[in-house]
Amino acid sequence: MTFNRKHLLGIRELSVDEITHLLDTAETFRDVSRREIKKVPALRGRTVINLFFEASTRTRTSFEIAAKRLSADAVNISVPTSSVAKGETLLDTARNLEAMAPDCIVVRHSMAGAPHHLARMCNAPIVNAGDGSHEHPTQALLDALTIREYKGRIDGLKIAIIGDILHSRVARSNVHLLTKLGAAVRVAGPGTLVPEEFAELVEQGLRVEPRLEDAIEGADVVMILRIQRERQDASFVPSMREYAVHYGLHPWHLERASPEVIVMHPGPINRGIEISSEIADGSRSLILDQVTNGIAVRMAVLYLLARGNHPTQEEASVKPAGNGKRVRKGT
Ligand code: CP
Repeated sequence: MTFNRKHLLGIRELSVDEITHLLDTAETFRDVSRREIKKVPALRGRTVINLFFEASTRTRTSFEIAAKRLSADAVNISVPTSSVAKGETLLDTARNLEAMAPDCIVVRHSMAGAPHHLARMCNAPIVNAGDGSHEHPTQALLDALTIREYKGRIDGLKIAIIGDILHSRVARSNVHLLTKLGAAVRVAGPGTLVPEEFAELVEQGLRVEPRLEDAIEGADVVMILRIQRERQDASFVPSMREYAVHYGLHPWHLERASPEVIVMHPGPINRGIEISSEIADGSRSLILDQVTNGIAVRMAVLYLLARGNHPTQEEASVKPAGNGKRVRKGT
Protein backbone atom coordinates (compact mmCIF):
# COMPACT_ATOMS: atom_id res chain seq x y z
CA MET A 1 0.00 0.00 0.00
CA THR A 2 1.04 3.62 -0.42
CA PHE A 3 0.43 6.48 1.96
CA ASN A 4 -1.38 9.04 -0.13
CA ARG A 5 -2.01 11.72 2.46
CA LYS A 6 -0.28 15.04 2.10
CA HIS A 7 -0.35 15.83 5.84
CA LEU A 8 -0.32 13.93 9.13
CA LEU A 9 -2.75 15.80 11.34
CA GLY A 10 -4.27 13.14 13.57
CA ILE A 11 -4.92 9.45 14.13
CA ARG A 12 -8.69 9.77 14.14
CA GLU A 13 -8.91 10.12 10.35
CA LEU A 14 -6.43 7.32 9.53
CA SER A 15 -7.52 3.86 8.42
CA VAL A 16 -6.13 0.66 9.95
CA ASP A 17 -4.18 0.10 6.71
CA GLU A 18 -2.61 3.56 6.87
CA ILE A 19 -1.60 3.11 10.52
CA THR A 20 -0.16 -0.33 9.77
CA HIS A 21 1.75 1.06 6.79
CA LEU A 22 3.25 3.85 8.93
CA LEU A 23 4.29 1.31 11.58
CA ASP A 24 5.74 -1.10 9.00
CA THR A 25 7.70 1.76 7.40
CA ALA A 26 9.00 2.80 10.84
CA GLU A 27 10.17 -0.76 11.44
CA THR A 28 12.25 -0.63 8.27
CA PHE A 29 13.96 2.55 9.54
CA ARG A 30 14.63 1.30 13.08
CA ASP A 31 17.82 -0.43 11.98
CA VAL A 32 19.39 2.85 10.73
CA SER A 33 19.80 4.12 14.30
CA ARG A 34 21.65 0.92 15.30
CA ARG A 35 24.34 1.30 12.64
CA GLU A 36 27.71 2.93 13.10
CA ILE A 37 26.89 5.41 10.32
CA LYS A 38 23.34 6.45 11.17
CA LYS A 39 22.34 7.94 7.85
CA VAL A 40 20.52 6.97 4.67
CA PRO A 41 20.13 9.17 1.59
CA ALA A 42 16.32 8.86 1.41
CA LEU A 43 15.59 12.60 1.78
CA ARG A 44 18.81 14.09 0.43
CA GLY A 45 18.16 17.60 -0.82
CA ARG A 46 14.89 17.93 1.11
CA THR A 47 14.28 20.47 3.89
CA VAL A 48 12.29 19.91 7.10
CA ILE A 49 11.32 22.85 9.32
CA ASN A 50 10.47 22.33 13.02
CA LEU A 51 8.12 25.06 14.23
CA PHE A 52 7.44 24.50 17.92
CA PHE A 53 5.34 27.07 19.79
CA GLU A 54 5.37 24.89 22.92
CA ALA A 55 8.17 23.35 24.93
CA SER A 56 9.45 19.95 23.82
CA THR A 57 12.44 17.72 24.48
CA ARG A 58 11.58 14.38 22.87
CA THR A 59 9.43 15.34 19.89
CA ARG A 60 11.46 18.25 18.58
CA THR A 61 14.80 16.55 19.03
CA SER A 62 13.64 13.30 17.46
CA PHE A 63 12.11 15.07 14.44
CA GLU A 64 15.44 16.86 13.95
CA ILE A 65 17.44 13.64 14.33
CA ALA A 66 14.99 11.76 12.09
CA ALA A 67 15.37 14.37 9.33
CA LYS A 68 19.16 14.28 9.63
CA ARG A 69 19.29 10.46 9.56
CA LEU A 70 17.35 10.66 6.30
CA SER A 71 19.93 13.19 4.99
CA ALA A 72 17.40 16.04 4.91
CA ASP A 73 18.33 19.55 6.03
CA ALA A 74 16.62 20.18 9.37
CA VAL A 75 15.87 23.72 10.53
CA ASN A 76 14.60 24.48 14.02
CA ILE A 77 12.75 27.75 14.48
CA SER A 78 13.24 29.24 17.91
CA VAL A 79 9.83 30.81 18.43
CA PRO A 80 10.85 33.18 21.29
CA THR A 81 13.55 34.74 19.08
CA SER A 82 11.50 34.63 15.87
CA SER A 83 9.25 37.40 14.56
CA VAL A 84 6.36 35.79 16.45
CA ALA A 85 7.73 37.86 19.34
CA LYS A 86 6.98 40.96 17.22
CA GLY A 87 3.37 39.93 16.71
CA GLU A 88 3.57 37.92 13.50
CA THR A 89 0.67 35.47 13.25
CA LEU A 90 0.98 31.70 13.01
CA LEU A 91 -0.23 31.77 9.40
CA ASP A 92 2.10 34.58 8.33
CA THR A 93 5.00 32.82 10.02
CA ALA A 94 4.18 29.56 8.23
CA ARG A 95 3.70 31.27 4.86
CA ASN A 96 7.03 33.06 5.15
CA LEU A 97 8.76 29.80 6.02
CA GLU A 98 6.95 28.15 3.13
CA ALA A 99 8.34 30.81 0.78
CA MET A 100 11.74 29.20 1.47
CA ALA A 101 10.50 25.95 -0.13
CA PRO A 102 10.58 23.43 2.73
CA ASP A 103 9.41 19.91 1.92
CA CYS A 104 7.69 19.49 5.29
CA ILE A 105 6.76 21.69 8.27
CA VAL A 106 6.43 20.06 11.69
CA VAL A 107 4.21 22.12 14.01
CA ARG A 108 3.50 22.04 17.72
CA HIS A 109 1.05 24.61 19.04
CA SER A 110 -1.05 25.11 22.17
CA MET A 111 -4.15 25.75 20.05
CA ALA A 112 -6.11 22.65 19.03
CA GLY A 113 -6.49 22.70 15.26
CA ALA A 114 -3.49 24.94 14.53
CA PRO A 115 -1.80 22.36 12.21
CA HIS A 116 -5.14 21.75 10.46
CA HIS A 117 -5.44 25.48 9.81
CA LEU A 118 -1.95 25.56 8.29
CA ALA A 119 -2.71 22.47 6.19
CA ARG A 120 -5.70 24.28 4.68
CA MET A 121 -3.77 27.46 3.98
CA CYS A 122 -0.27 26.29 3.02
CA ASN A 123 1.24 24.10 0.31
CA ALA A 124 3.87 22.28 2.32
CA PRO A 125 3.05 18.96 3.99
CA ILE A 126 2.22 19.65 7.65
CA VAL A 127 2.90 17.25 10.53
CA ASN A 128 1.05 17.73 13.79
CA ALA A 129 3.62 17.42 16.59
CA GLY A 130 0.93 18.09 19.21
CA ASP A 131 -1.94 20.59 19.09
CA GLY A 132 -3.27 21.65 22.48
CA SER A 133 -5.27 18.86 24.09
CA HIS A 134 -6.34 17.51 20.72
CA GLU A 135 -3.91 15.03 19.08
CA HIS A 136 -0.28 13.93 19.09
CA PRO A 137 -0.27 11.39 16.26
CA THR A 138 3.44 10.56 16.16
CA GLN A 139 3.41 9.84 19.91
CA ALA A 140 0.59 7.31 19.45
CA LEU A 141 2.46 5.75 16.53
CA LEU A 142 5.68 5.38 18.51
CA ASP A 143 3.71 3.92 21.42
CA ALA A 144 2.11 1.41 19.04
CA LEU A 145 5.50 0.56 17.54
CA THR A 146 6.85 -0.09 21.05
CA ILE A 147 3.88 -2.28 21.98
CA ARG A 148 4.25 -4.24 18.74
CA GLU A 149 7.97 -4.68 19.42
CA TYR A 150 7.44 -6.09 22.91
CA LYS A 151 4.08 -7.86 22.54
CA GLY A 152 4.16 -8.79 18.86
CA ARG A 153 0.65 -7.44 18.30
CA ILE A 154 -1.91 -4.89 19.45
CA ASP A 155 -5.10 -6.74 18.58
CA GLY A 156 -6.64 -8.31 21.68
CA LEU A 157 -4.34 -6.68 24.22
CA LYS A 158 -5.76 -5.13 27.39
CA ILE A 159 -4.36 -1.62 27.64
CA ALA A 160 -4.94 0.73 30.58
CA ILE A 161 -4.40 4.48 30.11
CA ILE A 162 -4.29 6.29 33.44
CA GLY A 163 -4.12 9.93 34.46
CA ASP A 164 -5.19 13.28 33.09
CA ILE A 165 -7.10 12.00 30.08
CA LEU A 166 -9.04 15.22 29.54
CA HIS A 167 -6.04 17.40 28.72
CA SER A 168 -3.94 14.71 27.08
CA ARG A 169 -3.46 14.74 23.29
CA VAL A 170 -1.43 11.56 23.81
CA ALA A 171 -4.44 9.80 25.36
CA ARG A 172 -6.76 10.99 22.59
CA SER A 173 -4.47 9.81 19.78
CA ASN A 174 -3.75 6.54 21.57
CA VAL A 175 -7.39 5.76 22.27
CA HIS A 176 -8.18 6.20 18.57
CA LEU A 177 -5.18 4.18 17.40
CA LEU A 178 -5.41 1.33 19.88
CA THR A 179 -9.17 0.81 19.52
CA LYS A 180 -8.83 0.87 15.70
CA LEU A 181 -6.16 -1.84 15.95
CA GLY A 182 -8.37 -4.02 18.14
CA ALA A 183 -7.04 -3.46 21.68
CA ALA A 184 -9.39 -3.48 24.67
CA VAL A 185 -8.67 -0.02 26.08
CA ARG A 186 -9.60 1.11 29.58
CA VAL A 187 -9.07 4.69 30.71
CA ALA A 188 -8.94 5.73 34.36
CA GLY A 189 -8.62 9.07 36.08
CA PRO A 190 -10.50 11.43 38.35
CA GLY A 191 -14.02 12.03 37.02
CA THR A 192 -13.08 15.64 36.26
CA LEU A 193 -10.23 14.49 34.02
CA VAL A 194 -12.02 11.94 31.79
CA PRO A 195 -13.73 13.57 28.78
CA GLU A 196 -17.39 12.78 28.08
CA GLU A 197 -16.59 12.42 24.36
CA PHE A 198 -15.08 9.00 25.10
CA ALA A 199 -18.58 7.64 25.73
CA GLU A 200 -18.95 7.34 21.93
CA LEU A 201 -16.02 4.90 21.86
CA VAL A 202 -17.63 2.46 24.30
CA GLU A 203 -19.08 0.51 21.37
CA GLN A 204 -15.53 0.03 20.09
CA GLY A 205 -14.57 -1.61 23.37
CA LEU A 206 -13.40 1.41 25.40
CA ARG A 207 -14.08 1.14 29.14
CA VAL A 208 -14.00 4.08 31.52
CA GLU A 209 -12.94 3.07 35.04
CA PRO A 210 -12.95 5.50 37.95
CA ARG A 211 -10.34 3.49 39.89
CA LEU A 212 -6.77 2.87 38.77
CA GLU A 213 -6.90 -0.63 40.32
CA ASP A 214 -9.88 -1.68 38.15
CA ALA A 215 -8.27 -0.37 34.96
CA ILE A 216 -5.07 -2.29 35.68
CA GLU A 217 -6.76 -5.65 36.38
CA GLY A 218 -5.24 -8.15 33.91
CA ALA A 219 -3.68 -5.37 31.78
CA ASP A 220 -0.96 -6.25 29.27
CA VAL A 221 0.09 -2.61 28.94
CA VAL A 222 -0.20 0.24 31.46
CA MET A 223 0.24 3.70 30.02
CA ILE A 224 0.63 6.48 32.59
CA LEU A 225 0.08 10.17 31.82
CA ARG A 226 1.14 13.23 33.74
CA ILE A 227 -1.20 15.88 35.09
CA GLN A 228 -1.05 18.74 32.57
CA ARG A 229 -1.09 21.66 34.95
CA GLU A 230 -0.25 24.07 32.11
CA ARG A 231 -3.61 23.31 30.44
CA GLN A 232 -5.79 23.42 33.55
CA ASP A 233 -7.64 26.68 34.09
CA ALA A 234 -9.46 25.33 37.14
CA SER A 235 -8.62 22.99 39.96
CA PHE A 236 -9.48 19.52 38.66
CA VAL A 237 -8.08 17.64 41.65
CA PRO A 238 -8.09 18.66 45.33
CA SER A 239 -4.28 18.52 45.55
CA MET A 240 -1.29 16.88 43.88
CA ARG A 241 -0.78 14.84 47.06
CA GLU A 242 -4.28 13.44 46.86
CA TYR A 243 -3.92 12.77 43.13
CA ALA A 244 -0.69 10.87 43.79
CA VAL A 245 -2.40 8.75 46.45
CA HIS A 246 -5.26 7.68 44.14
CA TYR A 247 -3.65 7.70 40.69
CA GLY A 248 0.09 7.35 41.28
CA LEU A 249 1.42 4.00 40.00
CA HIS A 250 3.40 1.87 42.48
CA PRO A 251 4.86 -1.66 42.25
CA TRP A 252 2.02 -3.22 44.24
CA HIS A 253 -0.50 -2.06 41.62
CA LEU A 254 1.22 -4.18 38.99
CA GLU A 255 0.42 -7.36 40.96
CA ARG A 256 -3.11 -6.99 39.53
CA ALA A 257 -1.85 -6.76 35.95
CA SER A 258 -0.72 -9.50 33.60
CA PRO A 259 2.58 -11.06 34.82
CA GLU A 260 4.16 -9.84 31.55
CA VAL A 261 2.82 -6.29 31.86
CA ILE A 262 4.80 -3.43 30.32
CA VAL A 263 4.65 0.16 31.59
CA MET A 264 4.79 3.18 29.31
CA HIS A 265 4.80 6.96 29.76
CA PRO A 266 5.14 9.55 26.97
CA GLY A 267 7.24 11.84 29.18
CA PRO A 268 8.06 14.12 30.74
CA ILE A 269 7.48 12.14 33.94
CA ASN A 270 6.69 13.61 37.33
CA ARG A 271 8.40 11.16 39.66
CA GLY A 272 6.43 10.52 42.82
CA ILE A 273 3.21 11.95 41.41
CA GLU A 274 1.82 9.78 38.59
CA ILE A 275 4.63 7.19 38.69
CA SER A 276 7.03 5.97 41.37
CA SER A 277 10.74 5.83 40.60
CA GLU A 278 10.71 2.06 41.28
CA ILE A 279 8.42 1.62 38.29
CA ALA A 280 9.86 4.34 36.05
CA ASP A 281 13.35 2.86 36.39
CA GLY A 282 12.22 -0.76 36.81
CA SER A 283 12.34 -3.77 34.50
CA ARG A 284 8.76 -3.32 33.27
CA SER A 285 9.35 0.26 32.11
CA LEU A 286 9.69 0.93 28.37
CA ILE A 287 9.85 4.71 28.75
CA LEU A 288 13.24 5.08 27.08
CA ASP A 289 12.39 2.47 24.41
CA GLN A 290 9.48 4.73 23.47
CA VAL A 291 11.92 7.60 22.98
CA THR A 292 14.17 5.43 20.81
CA ASN A 293 11.21 4.33 18.67
CA GLY A 294 10.24 7.97 18.24
CA ILE A 295 13.14 8.39 15.82
CA ALA A 296 12.00 5.50 13.58
CA VAL A 297 8.38 6.69 13.57
CA ARG A 298 9.37 10.25 12.70
CA MET A 299 11.72 9.00 9.98
CA ALA A 300 8.78 7.08 8.50
CA VAL A 301 6.45 10.08 8.67
CA LEU A 302 8.97 12.48 7.13
CA TYR A 303 9.91 9.94 4.46
CA LEU A 304 6.30 9.30 3.45
CA LEU A 305 5.35 13.00 3.39
CA ALA A 306 8.49 14.76 2.16
CA ARG A 307 10.12 12.36 -0.26
CA GLY A 308 8.41 13.67 -3.35
CA ASN A 309 4.85 13.80 -2.35
CA HIS A 310 4.86 17.16 -4.04
CA PRO A 311 1.49 18.57 -5.00
CA THR A 312 0.41 18.19 -8.58
CA GLN A 313 -0.04 21.41 -10.50
CA GLU A 314 -3.77 21.18 -9.82
CA GLU A 315 -3.27 20.82 -6.06
CA ALA A 316 -0.57 23.44 -5.85
CA SER A 317 -1.56 26.78 -4.44
CA VAL A 318 0.72 28.60 -6.82
CA LYS A 319 -0.30 27.24 -10.16
CA PRO A 320 0.52 28.55 -13.58
CA ALA A 321 -2.47 30.14 -15.21
CA GLY A 322 -2.89 30.59 -18.96
CA ASN A 323 -1.99 34.27 -18.76
CA GLY A 324 1.12 33.67 -16.71
CA LYS A 325 -0.53 35.03 -13.54
CA ARG A 326 -0.17 33.00 -10.38
CA VAL A 327 -3.11 31.98 -8.18
CA ARG A 328 -2.59 31.49 -4.49
CA LYS A 329 -4.33 28.92 -2.30
CA GLY A 330 -6.39 30.25 0.57
CA THR A 331 -6.65 33.80 -0.68
N1 CP B 1 6.10 13.05 24.68
C1 CP B 1 6.37 14.30 24.27
O1 CP B 1 5.66 14.88 23.42
O2 CP B 1 7.46 14.84 24.87
P1 CP B 1 8.00 16.33 24.58
O3 CP B 1 6.95 17.29 25.09
O4 CP B 1 9.29 16.44 25.33
O5 CP B 1 8.16 16.48 23.11
